[in-house]
Amino acid sequence: MIHIHRLERYWMIVVGIVMGGFMAALVASVLVYGVRLPTPVGRVDPTHLENTDVATPGLTQDSAHAYTLRVVAQMWQFDFGVKGQMPKITLQRGSSLKIVATSKDVTHGFYVEQHNVNMMLVPGQISEMDVVFNKPGIYHIICHEYCGPGHQNMVAVIEVL
Ligand code: CUA
Repeated sequence: MIHIHRLERYWMIVVGIVMGGFMAALVASVLVYGVRLPTPVGRVDPTHLENTDVATPGLTQDSAHAYTLRVVAQMWQFDFGVKGQMPKITLQRGSSLKIVATSKDVTHGFYVEQHNVNMMLVPGQISEMDVVFNKPGIYHIICHEYCGPGHQNMVAVIEVL
């Protein structure tokens, strides 16, 4: 049997525990906390969105508590069919929302406060995520990818009653 120095053995055990901890955290994030990577569900021509899933931005109701929000991000606002610099939608508590989003020009971000929604909106790519709103409140949607001089104005609101 090869001889391993006492200190070397000690560090091997420490490294093993740390790597095991990282692996356990990764597995727990998927199986316990339901973390999913946002995945592109389709590719489109960003200059011709008229025949795509986001042709008509806005909120549609699919069933009693399920909605779909189609979003087009552009310099420097989120278009979801509501007028105003800070568009707002209102949902009842317990509603599930499918977000279908893309960008018309440059890469934008789509982050929903206090929820597991953090997407990059890349021109030419449709991104999709599902989220459930269980707590009443005001949740901001912010663009968290720097997209130009009006970046800080890209804010929208989801109100949960
Ligand atoms: Cu859009 Cu920053």
